Amino acid sequence: MASLAAVGALPAVAAQSEDQKGAKQQIDPYNVAGEVDDAGNVQAIDYDYLIQEFGVQPLTEQHLQRFEAVTGKKAHRLMRRKLFFSHRDFDKILDAYEQYGTFMLYTGRGPSSGSMHLGHTVPFLFTKELQDMFDVPLVIMLTDDEKYLYTRNKNDGHQKAGAAADDFLDYAYENIKDIIALGFDPKKTFIYTDYEYLGGHYYRNVSEFESLVTFNQASGAFGFGGSTNIGLIAYGAKQCVAAFPSSYPDLFGYKDYRAPDYDVSAKRRHKALASIPTLIPCAIDQEPYFRMVRDRSDRMTDPHPKPALILSKFLTALQGPGGKMSASDPNSAIFMSDTTKEIKTKINKHAFSGGRESLEEHRRLGGNPDVDVAYTYLSYFLEDDAELEDLNAKYRSGELLTGEMKQRCIAELTTFVSAFQERRAKVTHEEMRAYMKPRKLEYSGNPSPKNPKTAPAAGNGAAEEDGAAEKKGDGRGTKGERKAAKLAAKKEEKLAERLKKPEVEGT
Ligand code: TRP
Repeated sequence: MASLAAVGALPAVAAQSEDQKGAKQQIDPYNVAGEVDDAGNVQAIDYDYLIQEFGVQPLTEQHLQRFEAVTGKKAHRLMRRKLFFSHRDFDKILDAYEQYGTFMLYTGRGPSSGSMHLGHTVPFLFTKELQDMFDVPLVIMLTDDEKYLYTRNKNDGHQKAGAAADDFLDYAYENIKDIIALGFDPKKTFIYTDYEYLGGHYYRNVSEFESLVTFNQASGAFGFGGSTNIGLIAYGAKQCVAAFPSSYPDLFGYKDYRAPDYDVSAKRRHKALASIPTLIPCAIDQEPYFRMVRDRSDRMTDPHPKPALILSKFLTALQGPGGKMSASDPNSAIFMSDTTKEIKTKINKHAFSGGRESLEEHRRLGGNPDVDVAYTYLSYFLEDDAELEDLNAKYRSGELLTGEMKQRCIAELTTFVSAFQERRAKVTHEEMRAYMKPRKLEYSGNPSPKNPKTAPAAGNGAAEEDGAAEKKGDGRGTKGERKAAKLAAKKEEKLAERLKKPEVEGT
């Protein structure tokens, strides 16, 4: 399987402009770009370097084996092929599932346009599989506010046509329908947009988290400066506390404190929810947010365990590694709304080939599947391991030609995209609203946890209403621990630096 893990290496694609020459690789929530050499060639994204730089852990064969042992199921192809390639505390989530039986899944999407592309579906396909395997609750956050603030910031404060706050809510609705069409279980999935859902206990968490992060920390992690609008500077707190189950009391059978009833029994946030662990599957550009939440979650009034992460690579742009599919460059991406004909033309015309210059040379020397975009897409979407390996071997030996690889890729993508479009056409407004209603989710988690008695509130919260669970481990720590936390608070400025550097795991 080693050959399959090597997807996504090194072609040379011409840089877009002169001033990019010599630019370093840059990966953060607002930038995804490979290094550009002095001659102007864009290099493939160096994921090994990223593991070092971010201080995340590589996902190993041992993780796969443990995953399969715990779930009793074969790992998803995206994990088998190490397209989800790194993590933080993934082992701890498996431990929690084995011991207590449940955890919360959290992922999201920034609605920057009406239609999602193939790359956007990757974390969702994977998350859906995890949800099915573990039978756990899932929240999906649509960051209409983030995209509005970001777009306006990028346009130097100007608000362009089609980019008002209200427009991003519309994009969010379209994206939510796309997400639903990927098949999430309505009984255990809550989908929301920030513009609609912020309030109640969630907003209390936001406010508290905002108080724990300084401007220096935020600018260290995201590159903000004096001319960044203050909405964008503060936004990260929302994406961070979205990882806390206490932001969604309704989903766990607890009451929220919101209009119209403002039930006084639910005025305070529920401590019991703070102990439920969270796993976040996402692309690695989102990691700076979650480094921040991991750094601060134990400083909340009701401390949360550090959210665990499982991180993916980016789906390569049609032009080849070094960039990712981008909604703003239609020729870089295959959209979920593209017709069969468009898919065919895009792959045939634009997909970077790892084949040789001439047929004769290709037959003699063989092609390079590692840089071949059609092959790369197959590695994401073709389920059959044996066929994928066969394509790999035959391409290398020269038996399989670029045109043939492209045909296979077109066939696979067309099947996926048209099945998607069929389901998407049937998603109604009412169905969308049903996913977006805060309500108690139905899930069972691990059927035979080792330690069910100490399980955090697993969907039976209302019956327990804080009491027992709270006393057992309200997580506030001893007096000494609280004092230490206060001291740590004084070292705010140092953290700005630390956020830029790898987190030291296990400390
Ligand atoms: N900021 C993300 C984006 O722009 C959206 C998002 C919010 C997200 N919460 C998340 C993505 C959690 C992954 C996991 O796409």
